[in-house]
Amino acid sequence: MSDADRLIIFDTTLRDGEQSPGASMTREEKIRIARALERLRVDIIEAGFPAASNGDFEAVKAVAETIKGSRVCGLARANEKDIDRAGEAIKPAAAGRIHTFIATSPVHMEKKLQLSPDEVVERAVMAVKRARNLCDDVEFSPEDAGRSEPDFLCRIIEAAIAAGAGTINIPDTVGYNMPRQFAGLIRELRERVPNSDQAVWSVHCHNDLGVAVANSLAAVREGARQVECTINGLGERAGNAALEEIVMALRTRRDDFPCDTRIETREILPTSRLVSNITGFQVQPNKAIVGVNAFAHESGIHQDGVLKHRETYEIMRAEDVGWGTNRMVLGKHSGRNAFRSRCEELGIAFDTAEQLNEAFQRFKELADKKHEIFDEDLQALATEAVAALEEEQSVSLVAFRCCSETGETPVADVTLKVDGEEKKSSAAGDGPVDAAFKAIDSLLEVRAELLLYSVNNITTGTDAQGEVTVRLERGGRVVNGQGSDTDIVIASAKAYLNALNRLRTSAGRTHPQAEGV
Ligand code: KIV
Ligand code: ZN
Repeated sequence: MSDADRLIIFDTTLRDGEQSPGASMTREEKIRIARALERLRVDIIEAGFPAASNGDFEAVKAVAETIKGSRVCGLARANEKDIDRAGEAIKPAAAGRIHTFIATSPVHMEKKLQLSPDEVVERAVMAVKRARNLCDDVEFSPEDAGRSEPDFLCRIIEAAIAAGAGTINIPDTVGYNMPRQFAGLIRELRERVPNSDQAVWSVHCHNDLGVAVANSLAAVREGARQVECTINGLGERAGNAALEEIVMALRTRRDDFPCDTRIETREILPTSRLVSNITGFQVQPNKAIVGVNAFAHESGIHQDGVLKHRETYEIMRAEDVGWGTNRMVLGKHSGRNAFRSRCEELGIAFDTAEQLNEAFQRFKELADKKHEIFDEDLQALATEAVAALEEEQSVSLVAFRCCSETGETPVADVTLKVDGEEKKSSAAGDGPVDAAFKAIDSLLEVRAELLLYSVNNITTGTDAQGEVTVRLERGGRVVNGQGSDTDIVIASAKAYLNALNRLRTSAGRTHPQAEGV
């Protein structure tokens, strides 16, 4: 594929995706997702914002040390400290990139940055030059380009390219643009910026009006050759353009687009599942490509048509995006080697023998309750096992009992270990889950607001594990907790404790777009 025929896929699940409330990930979780993205053959992985916190810095560095098949990028605001931190974090990468940005719309420059347009250009140039001293590959984004004045955009982009930016990314930060308008902006900028041919043009679209993918595809027709996107469309507010939709639109409509990607599409579904499993953001059933209904034909007419000739109602093959493959089943007689090698095939790498032991023990416990263990079960139990060891678990579940009977109020008895001390409590509630949460609250003096409670079956069948996600908010901080078990009330208690542990320990981080430079 020549450069003109190739669309570069820049995945920002680990950075913009992580900015979704409650989606923040640990270092280990980021590494697992980064490995999956590498198998998916994304060109560039934006691994995080190293200046946000020491944890973020370490996570980006660990991804840079691990990944060999994709370029690893760190985000930096246009200031010296951020750039240096990003440069340091991506230093171990086989191929690295620094992505620096500054806002260019009148409202952002005046109200958020309180800088004049001249000062903004000066900072952008300084940032790109400083980044170029640390890394050969530098990307520049004028934040909120979708609401910026084209004349000013032309000026700052020309200066950024002259200062050494090899990629110019045009973000529709607040998802305000419509496809025709956004395509027009890309066309105008490419025509008017005198040195435009010296950079790769990229787009980064948010989905506030539901047109992030449409905007990105419209920009591709106008010469954009990099698209920034996320798995499952995860991202700030309504999210970013969904990687799987962009990739499959190009692949399915080769007749209509001037370029294609190098993505290994059969890895799309496993990667989607992994991201939703780790972040707790479930995929809606009717989501294109990766929703459970995306290839399901319920109505008789459709089923009949597909049986006679599949192309009557299918424009893509389910197996090409990973459905129906990768489902080797393990059971209670499977040994440690079978367990480890299946995990390795799924990209689950245990860094220590302790992690492997913990996960294997959980696997054996699950296999005692459930006949067949599927890939999805392994992903869930590996996430829990690694989190149990890596995250500080100041509170853990020792024992749980719940009584639920028709006509009676359910009662839950809980034993927790709180900072090393065992404590017991009982509570009644409007249902077993409510009773369990109340019993836990009575031991922990919780003052967090429950924003979300959801249960999903990990696989099918009545013996399937239920995966529960709980989202809590306290003092403006939002965390997700997850728990899985064949008993959904126990899964709920685990998820609640997981979120509470995160609330008790997670440190504050700087948001890249929250305030000035
Ligand atoms: O939405 C946005 O503008 C961003 C930038 C940092 C590229 O995420
Ligand atoms: Zn963004």
